[in-house]
Amino acid sequence: MTTNQTKAGGLRFAVIGVGFWAQFQIGAWKELPGARLVALCDRDFAKARAAAERFGVPKVYGDAGEMLRSEPLDFVDVAVGPEAHEQLVLLAARHHKAVICQKPMAFELAACERMVAACRDAGIPFLIHENFRWQTPMRRVKALLDSSIIGRPFRAHIQFSHGDIALFESQPYLFTQPHFALYDMGPHLLDLPRFFFGEPQTLYAREFHLDLRFAGEDIVSVMLGYDRLTCHCELTWRTTDYEVFVEGESGTVKWGADGKLTISTEAGTTTDVLTPRYYAWSDPRYGFAHPSIVDTNADLLAALRGEAAAATTGDDNLKTMKLLFAALRSAATNTVVQL
Ligand SMILES: NC(=O)c1ccc[n+]([C@@H]2O[C@H](COP(=O)([O-])OP(=O)(O)OC[C@H]3O[C@@H](n4cnc5c(N)ncnc54)[C@H](O)[C@@H]3O)[C@@H](O)[C@H]2O)c1
Repeated sequence: MTTNQTKAGGLRFAVIGVGFWAQFQIGAWKELPGARLVALCDRDFAKARAAAERFGVPKVYGDAGEMLRSEPLDFVDVAVGPEAHEQLVLLAARHHKAVICQKPMAFELAACERMVAACRDAGIPFLIHENFRWQTPMRRVKALLDSSIIGRPFRAHIQFSHGDIALFESQPYLFTQPHFALYDMGPHLLDLPRFFFGEPQTLYAREFHLDLRFAGEDIVSVMLGYDRLTCHCELTWRTTDYEVFVEGESGTVKWGADGKLTISTEAGTTTDVLTPRYYAWSDPRYGFAHPSIVDTNADLLAALRGEAAAATTGDDNLKTMKLLFAALRSAATNTVVQL
């Protein structure tokens, strides 16, 4: 198959890991022309077969190695839990298949570095599915910051919670995961400041473990220091709403869980109410997160088709993961980390 033939019919790809998140990931892929989902793989073969029937996918595998040996794929989308990301990304690299991997890239910095290096050495694209910077409110905030409407930003506040999503039902593994909040939402929380403001110079973090149903911490505060800008990043289980608030020298931008995007400058205050786009496969409780999967996948697909550079490459996400591991280090030692 030539590259042009492949592109004409859409890139052929497989999803590895068909658990909770993959159902939304697959739904989002189906919205995009230019990619053909030809196989599903899960070590739980019955699960993979049920998903293949549901989504009309022709081939099913219980072993990723066997699938990579048998299928002429253009890329694989790895949606297994983080503990298996490295193993599968390295496997894809050995087969010279471009690979998309879910967040968090891995639970250890050394593993993240091995994954990036293996893909670079194999000469294949390595992309991370980091979808928060693709949420509509985040794109709007970024566009406003770039427009300089609020002048130079000097302070920002970004806070997330897991909201009232039923984690016990959908993601039971989070209850036993060490560093629950930082490992799960930390990649999103620490990617957004980089998206908005670039790379920070210092980091100070604290984490607490209040909800004893979780093995890991459920309260996280990270303060990122930039030249003339401080960004406060907060993460909690249930008790806060989503918010992004940026103060600039000539105004403020605020996005809140009520859907309101408010811009205040000397000229006055304007408010837009943003509503997420819903798809047949998306869960309204996830707000802007599920529709953002479509935009994330579109960006990654354009890169895989050679049409544009992806925003969330492995190299880029390694910088987010370095912040995450610096936050763990800072919290453990109660020290400011120079980045
Ligand atoms: N972007 C987001 O907002 C978001 C939200 C939720 C989950 N996620 C990420 O998605 C990933 C998957 O999470 P989930 O909740 O779907 O987990 P899950 O446990 O529900 O599903 C993982 C699936 O992978 C399969 N699997 C594990 N190892 C495998 C292997 N070696 N080969 C084949 N299959 C294997 C398991 O059998 C399971 O079916 C995680 O990295 C998680 O952080 C991202």
